[in-house]
Amino acid sequence: ITGSGAASKVTATLPSGESVQVLLYGATVISWKSNGGKTENLWVSEKAALDGTKAVRGGVPVVFPVFGPPPKSGHATSALPQHGFARNSRWEYLGKSTSEDALDSTSVKLDFGLYTTGLSEDAHKAWPLDFGLVYSVTLAKDSLQTVVNVRNEGEQSFEFQFLLHTYFRINDITKTQVNGLLGVQYIDKVLNASTHDQKDASVAITGEVDRVYKSIPQDTTTIVEGGSPRFDVVRDNLQDTVVWNPWIEKAASMGDFSPDDGYKNMICVEVGAVNGWQKLEKGEVFEGGQTIKSLL
Ligand code: BG6
Repeated sequence: ITGSGAASKVTATLPSGESVQVLLYGATVISWKSNGGKTENLWVSEKAALDGTKAVRGGVPVVFPVFGPPPKSGHATSALPQHGFARNSRWEYLGKSTSEDALDSTSVKLDFGLYTTGLSEDAHKAWPLDFGLVYSVTLAKDSLQTVVNVRNEGEQSFEFQFLLHTYFRINDITKTQVNGLLGVQYIDKVLNASTHDQKDASVAITGEVDRVYKSIPQDTTTIVEGGSPRFDVVRDNLQDTVVWNPWIEKAASMGDFSPDDGYKNMICVEVGAVNGWQKLEKGEVFEGGQTIKSLL
């Protein structure tokens, strides 16, 4: 662990130079370098708060237990802020383990925990349920795996949503497309939350995009840049994916989004379970996550 207080972070580096950095605040992955450490794969705003005052604008914020604005009333998450509390809570560092596969390739796993006892008073008041989250970040040569384990530690059942809000770094949004969503139904948040079918094999980004793709049969979504696959995003036990780019006006309206034209260098492809709710009875566990591969 380096840094202190809310700015503490954990770094892991492979012998071949790849690295990952995780801020304890939000257990937010704020850097993932592959290609021997030469290529940064994540976009982080130049004005992102990294001192625990605000959720990080960039990297991989963890969204739990509600995605987006919570239901206005009548749901256990209704008093929570947008995207819940996981991204603005300080997680515990549980430790590191290293392993080698059959090809002598090393990977490093970092584990983080967030429990009812670690919540701020406000968050606990808004969601007074007993839970345990363990979040594992595994760095391998060309991939990063991020998996959450959610456990209901209380007597009552609870419902939650979960999402990994990954900001991928790209060179040019106008040359970027998202593949692997053909035929999938989505809610278009830019068009009054109307429902559509994805009719083209590629999603091109030519303006503000904010879509929730639901119940996706394909496991892999691919971010293509300049005609070549750049990232594979493989879902594990998560059925939905949000594609988000704020474009010019929305980017300018976010105080922590910088530079203004940074929207050209990022795309969020966010895997999750956000269509309806996951329910856990007493003692039950849910596990889901992603493996993201850098294809450079
Ligand atoms: C996306 C949502 O997941 O997150 C968008 O679909 C939202 O609607 C975006 O604007 C960023 O959210 P926030 O709370 O980090 O500004």
